[in-house]
Amino acid sequence: MSASSESNFPDHNGKLYLETVGCQMNVLDSELVAVSLRRQGYQMTSDMQEADTLLFNTCSVRDHAEHKIYSQLGRLKYQKRRRPRLVIGVLGCMAQKDQDLIFQRAPHVDLVVGTGQLAEVPNMIDDARRRGRGKSDSTKSMHSGATAVSLGRRDGSRQEVSGSFQSYDPLREPDSRPSRFQAFVRIMFGCDKFCTYCVVPMTRGPEQSRPPGEIARETRVLADQGVREVTLLGQTVNSYKHTVTGRQYRLADLLELIHDTEGIDRIKFVTNYPRDMGNELLEAVRDLPKVVPYLHVPAQSGCDHILKLMKRGYSTAQYREMRERIRAMIPHCAVSSDFIVGHPGESEASFELSMDLIRECRFKNSFIFKYSPRPGTKAYNLYRDDIPEAIKRRRNNEMLQLQNEISEEDNAEFIGQEVEVLVEGPSKHSQKGIGVDGTDKAHLQLVGRTSCDRIVVFAGTHNLAGSLTKVAVHDCTATTLIGNRVSQECKPESSELLPIL
Ligand code: 5AD
Ligand code: SF4
Repeated sequence: MSASSESNFPDHNGKLYLETVGCQMNVLDSELVAVSLRRQGYQMTSDMQEADTLLFNTCSVRDHAEHKIYSQLGRLKYQKRRRPRLVIGVLGCMAQKDQDLIFQRAPHVDLVVGTGQLAEVPNMIDDARRRGRGKSDSTKSMHSGATAVSLGRRDGSRQEVSGSFQSYDPLREPDSRPSRFQAFVRIMFGCDKFCTYCVVPMTRGPEQSRPPGEIARETRVLADQGVREVTLLGQTVNSYKHTVTGRQYRLADLLELIHDTEGIDRIKFVTNYPRDMGNELLEAVRDLPKVVPYLHVPAQSGCDHILKLMKRGYSTAQYREMRERIRAMIPHCAVSSDFIVGHPGESEASFELSMDLIRECRFKNSFIFKYSPRPGTKAYNLYRDDIPEAIKRRRNNEMLQLQNEISEEDNAEFIGQEVEVLVEGPSKHSQKGIGVDGTDKAHLQLVGRTSCDRIVVFAGTHNLAGSLTKVAVHDCTATTLIGNRVSQECKPESSELLPIL
């Protein structure tokens, strides 16, 4: 975040380093934490050394993500000795799930704040500073940090547990977002699906849908701030259900409600649950022009036996039927997926069934993960992690290769076509100082996305960031369409250089 973007906020109260790992939900949570701290005068910094508050917004979905955070925390022990005023906080999923374990492994941590208590972060940082922690804490075996977490799934009635996950979503500031023109809007908290491998129902609590009026208001605020694309977020967005004075709103109704928000050009939603992909929702995607023809619907496996072990609640035949329905109702719709390879009990034959599903469904892209046993999940307690790492790795690579071939073939279909692109800003290449001609930044390489979520790069200037523009595609890779801009329409208002997501 640039220094100039801090000018709307009160003066210096400290420098904040905030690192985020994990999903889009975490990106949104970090944005909201950043807003509340900047309102108190904190300045953001990407330099850990100059920060006096270090926050880590964490992910527990796979072991690897946790491991990296523990290594980072381990290294900070010495910094904390040298700089006693440093406040270190662990936020999010690991905080909710591991609480005491974090203090055991890193006694120099000051705050552990779960996903449902993030609104308390500013006060907790102040308290930690007042307590003057840090002078010798890192040498003590006992920690004196503070914890704020929600109730565990079995620690109270459903209402009590749900109530302990607090919302603070309405906080919004354009400068705290990774992009000015795109924003996430949470429509649901938590998850009740309890897939056996997944830790999310524990870290994010019971499934709760936000009131439609609140979501519509937040969307309007964002549009007034210059946002052109909103992405509605939830672990299973298409399970959205909220009743207002006797009327039940589902996701299709919500899309209709926010559709005419002035200034908003694109509406996306992630992530979908295959079983809840009803016709009404598909009709909304087909009929509402601002709702993009792109659906992320994780299959996880193409083998019925594995889907049963995962307790995903659908068969491969049902998934195929859903995919066919999407094809029939919205022929140009892009569909993407998640897959887990090396789940306990996944034979070569099971794995090949997943590969078959990818071939048939022709996903735009798939996020592929090696199974990671997560303590606290059913799979961890019931199944042995019996697929060796080398086999997981091989399956991961083979699946990635197949998916890449399909993605590249499908991207090649766009060569010779014009696509409409929402321009996000300079590509990573350009940000490093390399233009499309490989030499300077005078003519930048810009990056944006089509309405069906395909990444497009093309040459252009800074002031195109945030505009919708036409690009003629002349080449592609598995992940990217490459083209030239063909339209001057829709000039943006701002000429600032903006970071991309
Ligand atoms: N191991 C590997 N991948 C997992 N995912 C969730 N839990 C695990 C796990 N224990 C994957 C799923 C999910 C994505 C966000 O992460 O594919 O859709
Ligand atoms: Fe996890 Fe399953 Fe919920 Fe997705 S639907 S968050 S995989 S429990």
